[in-house]
Amino acid sequence: MSTIGEIKNKFDAEVGGCQSTEQAQDLKVRYLGKSGELTALLKGIKDLSPEERPSFGAKVNELRNYIESALQSKLAEMKEQEMQRRLQQEKVDVSLTDVRPWGSLHPVTLVENEICRLMTAMGFEVLSGPEIETDYYNFQALNIPYDHPARDMQDTFYISDGILLRTHTSPMQARLMEKKKPPIKMLCPGKVFRSDSDASHSPVFHQIEALVVDENVTLCDLKGTLEYLASKLFGKSTKVRFRPSFFPFTEPSVEVDLSCSNCGGKGCSLCKGTGWIEVLGAGMVNPFVLENCGIDSSKYNGYAFGIGLERIAMIKYGIPDIRLFYENDARFIKQFGK
Ligand code: DAH
Repeated sequence: MSTIGEIKNKFDAEVGGCQSTEQAQDLKVRYLGKSGELTALLKGIKDLSPEERPSFGAKVNELRNYIESALQSKLAEMKEQEMQRRLQQEKVDVSLTDVRPWGSLHPVTLVENEICRLMTAMGFEVLSGPEIETDYYNFQALNIPYDHPARDMQDTFYISDGILLRTHTSPMQARLMEKKKPPIKMLCPGKVFRSDSDASHSPVFHQIEALVVDENVTLCDLKGTLEYLASKLFGKSTKVRFRPSFFPFTEPSVEVDLSCSNCGGKGCSLCKGTGWIEVLGAGMVNPFVLENCGIDSSKYNGYAFGIGLERIAMIKYGIPDIRLFYENDARFIKQFGK
């Protein structure tokens, strides 16, 4: 009987000094496990007289219950302590003021998003095409054969025979018209590439292509759309002017000028004293291009235009040098984000 008392005292001392859940688990094995203290104690029951056995058994059971419940509350206590310790260690101080440099949208992205928003509201669908393009879609399908001098206007990066980096977003006109029959109202933003670099030219820049093909499309539709776009981008009083031009894929072709948003048309350094700023090329889709893509040019016609996004952003935000867009100076980029 004294052994039961000894074991209880030993257990009490050990459980009192217990510091972790592992130690508590360890005690459980040592006292209640198969080769534990209590099992060993029970084995001694056979040496007792039959009269002594029931009360000995009851005492051992009492001790087992005592140890079990003591360990249970010890484990719960240890778990709680460990949780408190972790909460302390992993605490995040949400009161610290935010010192991270916040990002903002790039001015070219802002202009692209704005044009896409305005044009999708007019029913244009936004598509994207491949940056690595074939000579066929970049030139031939657009009525620019191999020996055509118009190729000189677009200094091209050739990758291999017949494969190049697209010089404009116009190839998507042909790609779409081959697949889809009119009515078509398409917008294609994306990167374009030309071997050209100075304050107003970059080897990589961005364009948005617009294409409308349907019955009875007129130059007036083109002008109305551009006037709406210009008024939204640069203000209500902005005027749009068409000047005759040449692109092999449009006939007639126009160069589109906007009245200078800086001086209101009086003449300043931005518009080089003319009161007008050239912003994009446009025209009525050349019937050759329609036919190349399998569209009946006696039934359908259309207009198209291509906008340089850097150019629009430079005018809109008064940015003097195109290279500023690509230097990734956060101080520059942060000025335009909302
Ligand atoms: N693709 C021409 C360029 O990059 C711009 C252009 C002109 C696009 C007339 C058009 C267009 O869609 O009709 O120089």
